[in-house]
Amino acid sequence: MLDLLVHNATLPDGRTNMSVAVQGGRIAEVAEGLDAPAREKLDAQGLLLSPHFVDPHFHMDATLSYGLPRVNQSGTLLEGIALWGELKPLLKAEALIERALAYCDWAVAKGLLAIRTHVDTSDASLLAVDALLEVKHRVAPYLDLQLVAFPQDGVLRSPGGVDNLKRALDKGVDVVGGIPHFERTMADGAASVKLLCEIAAERGLPVDMHCDESDDPLSRHIETLAFETQRLGLQGRVTGSHCTSMHSMDNYYVSKLLPLIAEAQVNVIANPLINITLQGRHDTYPKRRGMTRVPELMAAGVNVGFGHDCVMDPWYGMGSGDMLEVAHMGLHVAQMTSQAGIGQCFDAVTGNAARIFGLEGYGLDAGCDASFVLLQARDPVEAIRLRAARLKVFRKGELLAESAPASASLRLSGRPDSTDFMPARKN
Ligand code: FE2
Repeated sequence: MLDLLVHNATLPDGRTNMSVAVQGGRIAEVAEGLDAPAREKLDAQGLLLSPHFVDPHFHMDATLSYGLPRVNQSGTLLEGIALWGELKPLLKAEALIERALAYCDWAVAKGLLAIRTHVDTSDASLLAVDALLEVKHRVAPYLDLQLVAFPQDGVLRSPGGVDNLKRALDKGVDVVGGIPHFERTMADGAASVKLLCEIAAERGLPVDMHCDESDDPLSRHIETLAFETQRLGLQGRVTGSHCTSMHSMDNYYVSKLLPLIAEAQVNVIANPLINITLQGRHDTYPKRRGMTRVPELMAAGVNVGFGHDCVMDPWYGMGSGDMLEVAHMGLHVAQMTSQAGIGQCFDAVTGNAARIFGLEGYGLDAGCDASFVLLQARDPVEAIRLRAARLKVFRKGELLAESAPASASLRLSGRPDSTDFMPARKN
């Protein structure tokens, strides 16, 4: 007897009338039209069953702090960093933990069951590190949280930066972070990349650096990161986050850079909501979009994920933990409106992000964890268009969250009494 049988589901790859059999928290079988005895059966009614969403880039130590101690009046990156500097001395562990747990509740409700979060290691007290390690422990039964040691003030630029970062890793932080473009000079930035990759190599850890998050066409830290990855044999476990300067780089240089990133198997993360709001802020018109070159990176064979980055924090007052909103913005900013492009945007918040995270047991194949989301949509295109309701969220076979279908009641005589924004399809 199976624990759960989901039947009549559409899968992201387009297969319809699919059944997913669950036993002991794992997917036992995926087959068309399969019927078998099960303790619970769920008729998906032809809707999309997707592996859960993964956010590969977030800042959970700052989330839901909007308005503390004041709102970012200009909405710029620089005022956001200044505001974070004002907030940090006021942070209390319990309040930080409470906000992070509240965000994890939102995430689960949105089918987001794995989050890689950066945690600021600049403060010698490591208060935020301890707080997020506690959060990681508390949410482990329902959400995978991975922490990146992030020296927000610059690992070389801030006194004690290297020591603080190493102490965070000693405490159990999973990934080595960095912010080379925030060091005082380009040379210091490159030196920080080298140093941090060496720390990761010594400790056998992955790397995920904020890399070239500026509009400077000459920022070259992603090149250094790819070079160091190859020099130290870190292929496959290194990620460059943001890489917004690539938007402004010379095309000839980029034609040389992309194959290097691909060869080094360096992942790239774009953060569409944040990149489109923070970059190009000093431009008049035309204004640069700022997001890195997503379709070109993908075409070069680079694994690209989309991150949320911020939700209601000093840098960004919007957001709700909805990775479909992230994919929706990514699709617009990168002009990925082809059918293949839309599918790639969906992949960027599911499978690609899971690869960056290094999630085991991810996917909708036999043997994978039964961690999936039933969406009120019939395919990934519709899911992104509607930021579709998460009707059911399962983790390892256990139902974690349910949402009512989105619909509107109509009061128009002679018309149907409700609509769900999903036009009838003719076969
Ligand atoms: Fe970030």
